[in-house]
Amino acid sequence: IDLFVKSSGGNKTTDIMYGLMHEDINNSGDGGIYAELISNRAFQGSEKFPSNLDNWSPVGGATLTLQKLAKPLSSALPYSVNVANPKEGKGKGKDTKGKKVGLANAGFWGMDVKRQKYTGSFHVTGEYKGDFEVSLRSAITGETFGKKVVKGGSKKGKWTEKEFELVPFKDAPNSNNTFVVQWDAEGAKDGSLDLNLISLFPPTFKGRKNGLRIDLAQTMVELKPTFLRFPGGNMLEGNTLDTWWKWYETIGPLKDRPGMAGVWEYQQTLGLGLVEYMEWADDMNLEPIVGVFAGLALDGSFVPESEMGWVIQQALDEIEFLTGDAKTTKWGAVRAKLGHPKPWKVKWVEIGNEDWLAGRPAGFESYINYRFPMMMKAFNEKYPDIKIIASPSIFDNMTIPAGAAGDHHPYLTPDEFVERFAKFDNLSKDNVTLIGEAASTHPNGGIAWEGDLMPLPWWGGSVAEAIFLISTERNGDKIIGATYAPGLRSLDRWQWSMTWVQHAADPALTTRSTSWYVWRILAHHIIRETLPVDAPAGKPNFDPLFYVAGKSETGTGIFKAAVYNSTESIPVSLKFDGLNEGAVANLTVLTGPEDPYGYNDPFTGINVVKEETTFIKAGKGGKFTFTLPGLSVAVLETADA
Ligand code: AHR
Repeated sequence: IDLFVKSSGGNKTTDIMYGLMHEDINNSGDGGIYAELISNRAFQGSEKFPSNLDNWSPVGGATLTLQKLAKPLSSALPYSVNVANPKEGKGKGKDTKGKKVGLANAGFWGMDVKRQKYTGSFHVTGEYKGDFEVSLRSAITGETFGKKVVKGGSKKGKWTEKEFELVPFKDAPNSNNTFVVQWDAEGAKDGSLDLNLISLFPPTFKGRKNGLRIDLAQTMVELKPTFLRFPGGNMLEGNTLDTWWKWYETIGPLKDRPGMAGVWEYQQTLGLGLVEYMEWADDMNLEPIVGVFAGLALDGSFVPESEMGWVIQQALDEIEFLTGDAKTTKWGAVRAKLGHPKPWKVKWVEIGNEDWLAGRPAGFESYINYRFPMMMKAFNEKYPDIKIIASPSIFDNMTIPAGAAGDHHPYLTPDEFVERFAKFDNLSKDNVTLIGEAASTHPNGGIAWEGDLMPLPWWGGSVAEAIFLISTERNGDKIIGATYAPGLRSLDRWQWSMTWVQHAADPALTTRSTSWYVWRILAHHIIRETLPVDAPAGKPNFDPLFYVAGKSETGTGIFKAAVYNSTESIPVSLKFDGLNEGAVANLTVLTGPEDPYGYNDPFTGINVVKEETTFIKAGKGGKFTFTLPGLSVAVLETADA
């Protein structure tokens, strides 16, 4: 294939081509990128997932009971654990002499223990004279890897917060470890103590308090993202109109966060709250795309027009919390009090999530007829500089009003992605669209959504995603940006198998999928201005080679391509207009396994993606010549264009 890249005549792209989308699914937040190690740290519960003592076990023969004390730690955290001395023996104080009691937490399917600084705290009430001891231990052998004395007792009728730092003296050989808090049984005057909000963090990304797990954050940084869409996804909507992601319950001290019944079958701590999302965006230099609740829940119920007032107000308040002046706005002042006097900048707000889907057709009609128009009007009036994104797109049969954008979520088979290569070419500039979620989820020729998702991203699916992304890049003036979803998945509990990265307590299991490699290579070479490419007359423009060319911010020439529908290698001759013989370029080619269904296996550690970069020189006529194998993804970048 002989291609000629012209030097002008293309389109300028947006400045946020590739990004991240995060919601707490697959324990990607709690037990995932949110670095908290203690699972069920505050016994948070909901109607759907009642408070319980899961992941806690007694130490020293103690008895653990879930209690609703008359004086709880906070109104948000009404439950706590009572740890009672062993009952056997002759009486309080005698048989407890010299004994230690307490409780142990198993973490989120274990805990990684290394010689690094852990920062923790717990709240305790009950009359106790003596010290506490915290430790990290093997759940199998009981071996202690590190411990620390936490000085001072506690008082009856008063909650005391104990803070500590703990540096283990030994790395644990595996992640099957527990965290233990214990004390002298004898010193507990009434034979028991009550504890709540027991928390332990390893070092976090950029050292943030209440921050992100470093290795998982790193997998995201390496993707060179430019935006962060949050907090959902379905998580934003909640299962019912009562259980949406109430942003105002996700801010402030952890003891004031009640948690929520997650939509992905587990209770959420909301430790990764609105402020933490913004700090995440700050720390990775990402443009936030803030999803605001729009009055539709996953059970299909939606807020009637006459009651939209509160839905609109909470969304405006959320943005005031993020962007309002600390001195002159109510919510700006709240933010300042929480340690963020400087307002954040928010350029993008998305109204709802997939409002075309739940409660069809009435839910969608309500969005088109009044929910979206009312919210857009309110935002345009109060925040005229914020760009509004509707949660459906033109492809979901919503006519997006002038000035707004849509959001398109293709979860498809590889063939479907490839067949739709030209889809955005005909998109009108009035219908700019975010790709807020996308992935190859089902195999070709299967029963698609009637069946399960594939178990892991696979090479053929990832190449098809590359072709889809190339199709978005060719239309970078209409496609705001794109991201895969969901990003993360715990190998211990998940609801959605297809994710960029898989993880467990043990960082050695953190696995970048085939799709992660594909999205990464494309995001590392950003085209700012597309350039038209002439293919030889009479030959089909695309298929089996799908490509885009353009210029980067600094003026380098970029060519991206992927090969599909071919078992043969494709010889390519590529000429950038004005480029002479001897010009140089780097060509990076990603290839996969022979079996297109091959995947990166978290358990064997086998990575099927091969990445090779070669330095090539333009030959006669200034043409770069190279061969791209079947099912491959390639990027060529030349500073000489
Ligand atoms: O990414 C998983 C889910 O897929 C999201 O929560 C939802 O927006 C979509 O349907």
